[in-house]
Amino acid sequence: MFRLRGLMSSRSLLAEHEEQSVGLLSVMEARAEHQKVRHYQTFYTFTTSIGIGLNILVLFWILHFRGGFAWQSKPALEFNWHPFLMTLGMVFLYSQAMLTYRTGRKFEKKSLKLVHASLNCLAFIMSVIGLKAVFDSHNLTNNPNLYTLHSWIGLSTVIVFSAQFLGGFVSFLYPGLSQSFRKAILPVHVAFGTSCFIGAMLAAVSGLLEKAIWSLKDDYKEFTIEGVVVNLIGVFIALYGILVLYLVNHDDFKRTALTDDQIGLDRSD
Ligand code: HEM
Repeated sequence: MFRLRGLMSSRSLLAEHEEQSVGLLSVMEARAEHQKVRHYQTFYTFTTSIGIGLNILVLFWILHFRGGFAWQSKPALEFNWHPFLMTLGMVFLYSQAMLTYRTGRKFEKKSLKLVHASLNCLAFIMSVIGLKAVFDSHNLTNNPNLYTLHSWIGLSTVIVFSAQFLGGFVSFLYPGLSQSFRKAILPVHVAFGTSCFIGAMLAAVSGLLEKAIWSLKDDYKEFTIEGVVVNLIGVFIALYGILVLYLVNHDDFKRTALTDDQIGLDRSD
C-alpha cells in the first residue's frame, strides 16, 4: 500500500515535471518568435523608410529638374509620369505586396490575401498609366518605340507581372482552385514574383541611366546636381531592392499559419 502510494506520487511528480518542461519550451518558443517579429519590424521599418525616401526623391527630381507633370498637350512633361508611376507602382507598391504576409503575420490569411491582391492591383493600374504616358510621349513626337534594352526589360517585366497577377488571382482568390493545386503552384508564384521584382529594379535603373545620359548629355560628366540626384535615386533603388529581397527570402520572417487559416482552408477559401 505504502509502495503503491510512493509509485503514484513519483508518477504525478514526473507528469508535473513534464508539464513544466513543455511549459518552459513553449515559453522559449514564444520568446524566440517574439524576437523574430521584432527583428522583422526593425528591418521592415528601415526598408520602408528607404522606399518612401526613394519615391520622394523621384518626385523632387521631376518637380525640380524636369518641369513637373502634364498630359498629352505637353508630351515631354507627360513622359514624367512614367518614371514616377513605374517607381511607385512596380518597385514600391509591388514590393510591399510581396511583404504583406510577413508584415501582417498576426492577421488571418484571407484578409492578407485581399491586401496582397489590392496592392498588386494598384501597382498594375499605375504601370498601365505609366506605360501609356511613355508610349504617348513617343508617338506624339514621332519617336520610335521599343528599341532600347530598357524598354525590352521593362515590357517583359510588365507582361510577366500581369500574367502572374491574373494567375494568382484566379488560383488563390477568385474563384480559387483546389487546395492541392494551390499548394503545388505556390513556389512557382513566389519564384516568378521575386524574379519580376528583380526585373522591375533592373528596368528602373536602366531607365534612369538612359534618361540621365540623354537629358544631361555632357553635363553628366560634370557632376551636376541633377546627375547626382539621379545617381542617388539609382542607389536608393538598389538598396531598397536588396533589403526587400532579404526580408522576402529569410526563413525566420516567414509567417506561421494561424488556426483561423486552417478553418479558412477547410472551407476551401
Ligand atoms: C519598373 C519600372 C519600369 C518599367 C517596367 C519601364 C518600362 C518601359 C517600357 C516598356 C518602355 C517602352 C516605351 C516605348 O518604347 O514607347 C519604357 C520607355 C522608357 N522608360 Fe521606362 N520603365 C520603368 C521605369 C523607368 C524609369 C524609373 C525611368 C527613369 C527615367 C524610365 C525611363 C524611360 C525612358 C527614358 C523611356 C523611353 C526610351 C525607351 O524606350 O527606352 N523608365 N519604359
